[in-house]
This record gives sequence, C-alpha cells and structure tokens, in this order.
Amino acid sequence: MNPIRCDRTKAWSALQQAFAETGRNFDLRTAFGGQPDRFANFSLAAPHVFADMSKNLVDTQTQALLLQLARECGLEAHRDAMFSGAAINHTEQRAVMHWLLRYPAADTVVSSQDAVRGLTQELSQVHATLNAMLDFAENVRADPRITDVVNIGIGGSDLGPQMAVLALDAFATSGKRLHFVSNVDGHELDAVLKSVKPDGTLFLVASKTFTTTETMTNARSARDWFVQQGGTNIARHFAALTTNVQAAHAFGISTTFGFWDWVGGRYSLWSAIGLPLAIAIGADGFREFLAGAHDMDQHFRLAPLEANLPVRLGLLDVWYRNFHGFTSRSIAPYHSALKRLPAYLQQLEMESNGKRVDAAGEALPFATSPVLWGEPGTNGQHAYFQMLHQGTEVVPVEFVAVKAARHSLPEHHTRLLANVLAQGQALMLGKADARGHKNIAGNGPSTMVLLDDLNPSTLVALIALQEHTVFGSETLLGHNNFGIWWFE
Ligand code: F6P
Repeated sequence: MNPIRCDRTKAWSALQQAFAETGRNFDLRTAFGGQPDRFANFSLAAPHVFADMSKNLVDTQTQALLLQLARECGLEAHRDAMFSGAAINHTEQRAVMHWLLRYPAADTVVSSQDAVRGLTQELSQVHATLNAMLDFAENVRADPRITDVVNIGIGGSDLGPQMAVLALDAFATSGKRLHFVSNVDGHELDAVLKSVKPDGTLFLVASKTFTTTETMTNARSARDWFVQQGGTNIARHFAALTTNVQAAHAFGISTTFGFWDWVGGRYSLWSAIGLPLAIAIGADGFREFLAGAHDMDQHFRLAPLEANLPVRLGLLDVWYRNFHGFTSRSIAPYHSALKRLPAYLQQLEMESNGKRVDAAGEALPFATSPVLWGEPGTNGQHAYFQMLHQGTEVVPVEFVAVKAARHSLPEHHTRLLANVLAQGQALMLGKADARGHKNIAGNGPSTMVLLDDLNPSTLVALIALQEHTVFGSETLLGHNNFGIWWFE
C-alpha cells in the first residue's frame, strides 16, 4: 500500500487551522507555566536513548493532530511493509532491509510470529556473510604484520564507518591505525600513502556499486602505488566490500565481502561496509553494535505511534518544516567523539528527503528535507550559537548529551553537561533587555537526546533512531526516501 500524501489528509487541514489559531504564537515559557507535567508528557524513553521533547513548539492538541496525520498517511502500514521485505523502494523496485542486517541469527529467534518469517533465506545469507567478515576482521586484528588499514570509499561507504570508528575510539582494541580516503582530491590519498608501508597495509575498497569515480580512481592509484613499492600479494593486501563482486574480481581483488541491493548506501554501515569498525572494536563489539540497532528496530516496529520515538521526532520535522517554515535543523552532539555525526546525518537526511516529487512523479506543493548542520558542543557555541540565540531564523536544535564520561577529568564533564543543559534553557527562556542588541527573544525550540554512555549499543540506537525518523517523515511527505536519481 502506498502512503497517502500528507497534504491530502484531514489532519493536514486541521493542522493548518491549529497553526493559524495557536501554533504560530505558541510560547514555550507560557506552556511550561500552564502545564507542570509538560516535561513528563513530552519525554520518551526508547532502547538505550531518552529524549526530552518538551522544549518544542508543540502542545497536546498539535501532538494529537500530528499523530492523526501519521495514521492517515498510513505510516504504520508503510513501516510494516518495510519490515516484511516488500519492495517499498518503488522507483527501483527494491525491498528496504538494512534492518535485517542487524536481526539476530534465525536459528535462535524465528517463529511464525516473527518479522522475518518470510525472509529466512535472506537472513541466513546475512549471517553467513557477517560471520565470514567478522572472522576476517579477527584475523586482521591478530596479524602483527598489518599495522594500517585504509578504507577507500565515499558517501555511505565512508561516512558511516568513519563516524563510528571515531565515536567508538574508546573501544578500539586492535592497535591498528585506521585511515579513510574518500575525496578524489589526491592530497588525501597522498598523505595516507606517505604514512604507510605496503607490506603493513590492508586496503579496503568500499563501494556498493564498485563504479563510483572517486573510489575507483583512489583504488587504482593505491594499487599502482602498492605495485610500484614492490608489493606483490594484492590478494592479501586488498579486500573489497561491495554488491558488485564481479567488478571487484575484474579489478584484481579476490577477497570480497558482499551485500545486497536492498541495502541503501547511506544505510550500509551494518553490512560489510562496517568492516573497518569490526577491525577496530572486534567481532564481539560489532555484534553488540548490531544488537543495539536491533533494539531500536523493535521499538520502531512495535511501539504505538504516540510512544514511538522515531515517529515523534519525524513528526516534529514535518511540523517545523511545513507549518512554521523553519528551513534547517541543527545537530549539536556534546561529545567530541561524535564529531562526524553531523556529516553522517547530513547524508541520511538530505539524500533521503531531498526530493521534490511524490510517488507518482508529481511536484510536491510543500517542503521536504530541512538543511541539517552542526558541530560538537561546546565548539559550536563559540562559532554559530550567536545566530541561534539572536539571529532572524529560528533553527530547532537537537542536542545529544552523554551522561557518563570515559576520561578521568570529572570537572570537564560537569562543565560540558552544564553547557548543554544551559544552552537548551537559554534558547527557550531568552533574556529581556531594553537595549535591543542585548535582548534575546527566546522561545527557541530544542530536543535533548540523552545517552547514559557512548558505547556500541547506544551509538547505534542513536543512528537507528535517526534512520527511522527519516523514514517517518519520508512516509508523510509521500516521496521515495530510498531512491537516488540525481547522480545517475
Ligand atoms: O552520491 C551518490 C552515492 O550513490 C551515495 O548514495 C553513495 O553512498 C555513494 O554515492 C557511494 O556509492 P558507492 O558505495 O556505490 O561507491
């Protein structure tokens, strides 16, 4: 069943009316004054993640209408279609099953009630490939001759593993140096090649299609360099992570780890594309990583819409982008290891929702993807927060805070957490001052996403949360999130 486009529902008209009557002038300070239980009503716990959404420009009536909108658009049926393996990527006639990559092995869990009951063959292929890839990762970890691993890939074949390797640096136990080369700008590859030796290096050529110009150019140059430096054993020093195993073989690479056309590039971190992370944190860490994402999948699949965190966040996006007319959303992770999270989320959100026609190819009469941008706190505070507090644009901010630190400088962590809490508060409260340049209007919306700790389970719950949030907003907007055509 195709989702119903949001602007063709009754809830859409009701939301337009609600926006005109109360939404436009909604004031967070008044809302908190009138509703002592606002925090409780607008907070939600999901696996490994807690979100305080109380500082958003939404009242209970709007919230109810947004949920009605989701129901009228058929979000539940569309979600269930994805989890049943239906070809919901209709422009490419493909299923969308990145979630299957993190589904536990069939022999332990499949029952007639289970989501994967019709997909046991795919699931066993997933686990066979996963086991082979994790064995390979363990062998690399145990091989003292390999000191450096160079991932050559771009977009989804770079952003996910790079982001996750950085984020989970505290869990890296391999002792290997990991490098990421994505840009066709030779400065990037050249700098890496100057720092490695051919007999100590493993090159991973990561490309879903094995045709992307930047990646193939870098891979060819790396192979030429390897040969020029006297390297002979390409089979030992190159591996390919791709759905196009044939092309990898033609390139001269015999060690390959495959995945499937039902995994979108920006959703491929869970597949063989995650190999650099598996090398960094080991097979057990990678399995923990997959399990955390599966927990979030189950939440998205089973929780009622009102208690479903990805749905609630996706609805906020639609409300802000289409009724308030806010053009962007800022992501502010208050953890320096999450410094590539904004770049990763940019592809996830903007490559997915940056579409202008509906399922039937008709131009959409409303806005789709917001611009997503951000930097880790507190650095952003000293760069662009001026604009968030006093600029002419309203930008909803999504803060990500982590309760526990993994360093031994407790004073720093106290200050960091104090900063993130204070920023959300200050955006909302503002500061009245008769001197115009000192006046801060306030009423700035924000969401606080809270993790107890940054570890494999919480990181992926955070990522899967964002994937499903994008799915939710895409369903309402009625275009195809999973296709990507501008690049053809
Ligand atoms: O930019 C287009 C795109 O196809 C992305 O969707 C993808 O993540 C990236 O290029 C890399 O593609 P591949 O993994 O096939 O090299």
